[in-house]
Amino acid sequence: MPAWKDGKLGLPIGEAVKIFPELGKYLDERGKLDFSNREARILYNRAVARALFGLDIEYNPRGLVTPPISRYIFLKTFLREGEKVLEIGTGHTAMMALMAEKLFSCRVTATELDNEFFEYAKANIKRNNAKVNLVKSNGGIIKNVVSEGERFDVIFSAPPYYERPTKGVLTEREGVGGGKYGESFSNRLLTEALDYLKSGGRVALFLPDKEALLQAISKHAEKLGYSVKDIKFRVGTRWRHSLIALK
Ligand SMILES: C[S@@+](CC[C@H](N)C(=O)[O-])C[C@H]1O[C@@H](n2cnc3c(N)ncnc32)[C@H](O)[C@@H]1O
Repeated sequence: MPAWKDGKLGLPIGEAVKIFPELGKYLDERGKLDFSNREARILYNRAVARALFGLDIEYNPRGLVTPPISRYIFLKTFLREGEKVLEIGTGHTAMMALMAEKLFSCRVTATELDNEFFEYAKANIKRNNAKVNLVKSNGGIIKNVVSEGERFDVIFSAPPYYERPTKGVLTEREGVGGGKYGESFSNRLLTEALDYLKSGGRVALFLPDKEALLQAISKHAEKLGYSVKDIKFRVGTRWRHSLIALK
């Protein structure tokens, strides 16, 4: 199965249609896929997850359509083979938790707050015969959610980062980070992570290209004594950031 398109990690539409023939109904006469259609985006991303990463993922129809390639590139910026890791907010796909276990041989604990997403995540973990330890969050982030005394090499998250609810695309829990720039969730995570990281451990956050948000989080991390590295990468037409805070 081809994993490369135009010299980059990707999957040609024609190959995706071979995996899910029902994608064919979203193609125009020139063979272009209607990415504005949610069902089409889900099917295409399921095909990518399967063809490139060997993962069988069921997406919740009302959840964020997590794209596998951006998540994989993010993990590559900080993850090493065999590490003990914690993901906060794995979502309905459990995509990054599954990648960390299957592609990086990590021992993975992952949390999720939303009941329905938790059940989907559980089913995705089972469907892929994975051992990810899935933990239901009670509204906390790390403290009172993960056992006290547990220590991780890495704690990572694609955190909610909007300052207020957005229209349409994301559920409130997926979207709202709170604070002036959407930084509150990430800042709380960084604060709590200090007690759950091994020495030399790190926090990695998947963030959008928003300067004020990145600044607010970086400043908070530095105040806590972390040293911060910001790795900017491009996926399709969008820029993303992997903000890595070293304890
Ligand atoms: C932006 S989404 C990211 C989902 C997925 N990890 C991804 O990469 O697409 C954030 C996720 O965090 C969950 N969440 C929000 N608050 C949480 C909390 N306190 N503990 C655990 N999960 C939480 C949301 O329900 C949502 O699934």
